[in-house]
Amino acid sequence: MVIHDHGCRFMHAHIQTVAFRGIDTIAVDVQVHIANGLPAMAIVGLADKSVAESKERVRAALSSIGLSLPPKRIAINLAPADVLKEGAHFDLPIALGLLVAMGVIPADAVADRVVLGELSLNGAIQPVSGALSAAIFASSRQQNLICPAASGAEAAWAGDIDILAPTDILALLNHVRGRQILHPPTPKIATSQTQHPDMADLRGQLTARRVLEIAATGGHNLLLIGPPGAGKSMLAARLPGLLPPLTPEQALQVTMIHSIAGQLSDGGLIRDRPFREPHHSASMAALVGGGMRAKPGEISLAHHGVLFLDELAEFSRVVLDSLRQPLETGKVVVARANNNYTYPAAFQLIAAMNPCRCGYLGDPARACSRAPACGRQYSAKVSGPVMDRFDLIIEVPEVTPQMLMADEAAERSAVIFDRIMAARSVAMGRSCQADGTLNAKLTGDDLDAAIVLEDAAKTLLKAALEQQQLSARAYHKIMRVARTIADLDNRPEVTREHLAEALAYRAMPLFA
Ligand SMILES: Nc1ncnc2c1ncn2[C@@H]1O[C@H](COP(=O)(O)OP(=O)(O)O)[C@@H](O)[C@H]1O
Ligand SMILES: [Mg+2]
Repeated sequence: MVIHDHGCRFMHAHIQTVAFRGIDTIAVDVQVHIANGLPAMAIVGLADKSVAESKERVRAALSSIGLSLPPKRIAINLAPADVLKEGAHFDLPIALGLLVAMGVIPADAVADRVVLGELSLNGAIQPVSGALSAAIFASSRQQNLICPAASGAEAAWAGDIDILAPTDILALLNHVRGRQILHPPTPKIATSQTQHPDMADLRGQLTARRVLEIAATGGHNLLLIGPPGAGKSMLAARLPGLLPPLTPEQALQVTMIHSIAGQLSDGGLIRDRPFREPHHSASMAALVGGGMRAKPGEISLAHHGVLFLDELAEFSRVVLDSLRQPLETGKVVVARANNNYTYPAAFQLIAAMNPCRCGYLGDPARACSRAPACGRQYSAKVSGPVMDRFDLIIEVPEVTPQMLMADEAAERSAVIFDRIMAARSVAMGRSCQADGTLNAKLTGDDLDAAIVLEDAAKTLLKAALEQQQLSARAYHKIMRVARTIADLDNRPEVTREHLAEALAYRAMPLFA
């Protein structure tokens, strides 16, 4: 290929791309300047190491299609300079900037297009994280998009924009020259990975089943305490199957977060409610987000879904305490060198733990010699403020042989789901919850408006408050749970029975 340098002393081009800050998208302009001088290539503009390595990938990818860079001074500036540029998606905009500056492709072929993609040394364009966010950004500015072929199905959900999704740089060049047409990608839905396990598998455990139903109805955080093998993990795994599917708006948001985290394996829209189960050895960065290359953590991947923390007391205390803020606000702020990133993190928390280290505290058959002190020590690993974030705390006793061998089949998830949806529609019928606010999220005036206590319930509440010395947060949580129980009963007023049941699910007999 022959490149004409138009006889000018310098050549210039610019290409639009994006940087991600949290899940926000920021416009970045890739400016390429080629001037006479000693051959060199420099990338400036607060680029991290992955971007600096772009140079070598771009050089190799261009030579794979028979192009070599001119022996001149090449300066590449990523503007604005105060935004940190992370990730490998700057390869393609840099390569296209060079191609325009070298006169290989006309500037108007890439004008009005946001470009992102990683290059292989052989010129293939590799998938990148954040394609959906970039597409939505382009759409909001009435611009179009060039992204990797593998990210096309995801980007196509952004709606009315023109997307070029080439597999390699040669295919893109041929398209620009009119030799080969690239077809627009079609939006795809992720194949459902989870066939939710059914509640029918779980024998006995009537209290735990009831409490799981209450948690699913009101979106309440739930802590299960019980010996190993009691079925705590079974219960937790069955919660997502009791929740309604994501709304289209939620699906788009969940997909966007997974895309930015680079966790969208087959590029489709996510329709299943997320269920995340991080191990207790998970680092702070893995759980709440951040790290070397800032990414959403498990709690953001659980946005609009369920976060299951098994063996709660084995998590590091610092990690658990960092959940307090997101549990309250539904988002997490990750501190970076010179910036803070905010990721959405509105999840329902379900946690499980043993009552003590050996797991059998309170079990008459296997009486533990260190009881009850060992139970107190073990539960103290979870700080009071974290305990306070649970609306429902219950004991799950050991399963007995009678339970397992019982003849009558347990209720199926589908039947429970119908009751949950009916109770949810009772809640949404209240004007303060018409926007879809779940009972667990009621605050201030809305909480007061939603909860009308029967007189007998008021008397009981007063006695309980005096006796148990509840924190203000615990008090409000009990009120919200009582509201959910009344909704399941389809009653406008919270009765004494509803309140008594809610109070029972906050007792912690083993730790007393
Ligand atoms: N209530 C139950 N009904 C049927 N099987 C149960 C029940 N509880 C426990 N199991 C059996 O025991 C196994 C361990 O249960 P699991 O939920 O992992 O217990 P945990 O998390 O409390 O230690 C399950 O895989 C299941 O086979
Ligand atoms: Mg378990």
